[in-house]
Amino acid sequence: MAKTLVKEVAENLYLLRLDDDEIKYFEALWHIPEGITYNAYLYLGPNTRILFDTWKIGFSSLFIETLRSLVEPKDIDAIIVHHMEPDHSGALKSLVELNPDIKVFGHPLVKNMIESFYGIKNIAFRPVRDLEEINIEDIKLKFIYTPWLHWPETIMSYLYSTKTLFTGDVFGAFSIPSSVFGEELTRDYINFMRKYFVDVIGYYRQHVEKNIQKILGLGLDIELVAPLHGALWKDIGRIAEYYIKWGRGEGVENKVTVIYSSMYGFVEKAIQFVIELLQSHNVDVAVYKITDNYRSEISDILSDAIDSSAIVLGAATYEAGVFPYMEFVINQLAKKANSPKPVIIISSYGWGGVAGKFISNILSKTKFKVLRIIEYKGMLTESTLKDIRSAVNELLKHVKT
Ligand code: FEO
Repeated sequence: MAKTLVKEVAENLYLLRLDDDEIKYFEALWHIPEGITYNAYLYLGPNTRILFDTWKIGFSSLFIETLRSLVEPKDIDAIIVHHMEPDHSGALKSLVELNPDIKVFGHPLVKNMIESFYGIKNIAFRPVRDLEEINIEDIKLKFIYTPWLHWPETIMSYLYSTKTLFTGDVFGAFSIPSSVFGEELTRDYINFMRKYFVDVIGYYRQHVEKNIQKILGLGLDIELVAPLHGALWKDIGRIAEYYIKWGRGEGVENKVTVIYSSMYGFVEKAIQFVIELLQSHNVDVAVYKITDNYRSEISDILSDAIDSSAIVLGAATYEAGVFPYMEFVINQLAKKANSPKPVIIISSYGWGGVAGKFISNILSKTKFKVLRIIEYKGMLTESTLKDIRSAVNELLKHVKT
């Protein structure tokens, strides 16, 4: 059951967190058994009350009830809308019904989106400009456009009084962290952050580095980073570094992701040979498979692929193409994890090999570099094993062992 958490995270600044452990597929796509949080924030100064975003659509009543534990919604002066995706704007309608005069600050695109998403008209909307500083009563804020992280209307804001940067989806993560602050969490949490990054923002990775550099270049004195999902951070440096690396698709030294499908075990045998060869060279191998008794999730596959140094793909020919689920995986890799990594393709067939060329054609439109295609008929032979060994040796040159 979803739980709420309210905590003062800086002087007069409260985190209102909804821990959603019932969701199975974020955006109806990304498998997240680890759950997710939706974070809103409330500044309760002596003279001014400002809300920063809300929660996911469907949780409006709980959001208003949680808000009321701190302040009456009608007494809030303003709301900052950093991002209109309904996992954050979902309680806007209830809020405006209770407080029709609330001032709404956001990117110019937001006004129209509020009307089209929620049928809310005649709000006191104030569009903000990039890098504009605005005083809401006695409280000073700076607004920063961060387009395509994750949507075109996405902005960040900086609250001078608490030195807090509200970052929207950026630096968010899947999972329900056991601590409010990221510095107190383990490496596993970084993996949930990486998974969120590539699954949700991966398609827009070309916009990541320039937006992160833009924020860092403003010289803001940031003591608290407050994203809309997951943990808050006191130090922006480490997480900004991760974002730049993931944005570039830089591979971690010595890491290879192997993804394969195998209907009857022919491809699996070849892939097992590849894995053994890689491990014999002390390579860290992340293995994902689609078989008759197991199906890895695309959300996890993409997460490991983004920071691997190389990729191995295995799939049989299927109906004059490639095994369908692998086609989906490869298309998503091409979209969300597209980066200059070497790839080996291993494929088997019954009477005519098509899959190798098929996969290679998809990857030819990306930054991935196909080193070798090894296709074989039916059983593995000594000659195919020799080809695989040679291909793996070539791959190892790119894995930085
Ligand atoms: Fe967390 Fe793009 O919404």
